[in-house]
Amino acid sequence: MTQTETLAPAAAAACAVPAAPADVASLAEEIRELKRDRNAVILAHNYQRPEVQDVADVIGDSLALARFAARTDADVIVFCGVHFMAETAAVLAPEKTVLLPDLEAGCSLADSITAEQLRAWKAEHPDAVVVAYVNTTAEVKAETDYCCTSSNAVQVVQAIPADQEILFLPDMFLGSYVQRVTGRTNMHIWMGECHVHAAIRPGHVSDVLDQHPRAELLVHPECGCSTPAMYLSAAGELPAGRTRFLSTGGMLEYARRAEGDEFVVATETGILYQMEKQNPGKRFIPANPDAICPFMKKITLNKVRDALRDNRHVITVPEEIAERARLSIERMIAIG
Ligand code: 13P
Ligand code: SF4
Repeated sequence: MTQTETLAPAAAAACAVPAAPADVASLAEEIRELKRDRNAVILAHNYQRPEVQDVADVIGDSLALARFAARTDADVIVFCGVHFMAETAAVLAPEKTVLLPDLEAGCSLADSITAEQLRAWKAEHPDAVVVAYVNTTAEVKAETDYCCTSSNAVQVVQAIPADQEILFLPDMFLGSYVQRVTGRTNMHIWMGECHVHAAIRPGHVSDVLDQHPRAELLVHPECGCSTPAMYLSAAGELPAGRTRFLSTGGMLEYARRAEGDEFVVATETGILYQMEKQNPGKRFIPANPDAICPFMKKITLNKVRDALRDNRHVITVPEEIAERARLSIERMIAIG
């Protein structure tokens, strides 16, 4: 079976391998050799292209990859993900060389707030504690008290005293999800969004569920459908007990453990590759097959090889910013 045959058609088209299959094998071999020579480790986010996931030492969600970067004894970390993830690794492992194979691998969500905007927001709420999703620049993290990811956002907010005002940023869908789960009324939410997840609308989910009435529903809390999905699930209008709100790592773990064999997946479609690979007898249907992150797909095998061979795109964070950002990231790593 080829790599693309395991993907849903739209995801396969978007992840089209830029090199022919024979080249994929020889590039993968070249990468393995370079990795050994440089004592390097390759980390890949769950949304990466299939062939990039296949050369990775670790594949995971934002929290798992940050935790791994903090403890690896490799000299070089090749981060197959987006810029803020490589920055987070550089903050946690300043003595390592962190490489991002393509500098254009950005993030629309991280771009939705600047450090200057955050400083102005803090000035309006001088007593508030700042909780920032990890999808932010290091400069924003330096202005932050606690970082969180989708897998521990609820626990991070619950760890803050109930009477403490909170500024939550930058994702409004994750923010309203956390607000609803925790019942917090003293939480202000920044109106940012990820354009990929925001485009997964409630209509997509209900259409796909109509076609697959037995399926379980896995929703990433960054999705545009997440808040309506919570209300509908609480009202019993979505499959009772069969709707889960999970990070990408949480979705993979749930899919492995679940007894059901059909899942509608509301997140970026790159995750379907690992889901199908890890669960041969189960079926995974994207809620919106067009939910493809153009930034994540910037990373190709050629660029991974070039990064390792030519030490290309070293990510560094000025120590003055890293020092302030580290505290909030370390709090995130410790919780959940
Ligand atoms: P997680 O993998 O942490 O769930 O994050 C999803 C995401 O959109 C990363 O950019
Ligand atoms: Fe950013 Fe969205 Fe892409 Fe994740 S999927 S990297 S949040 S633009």
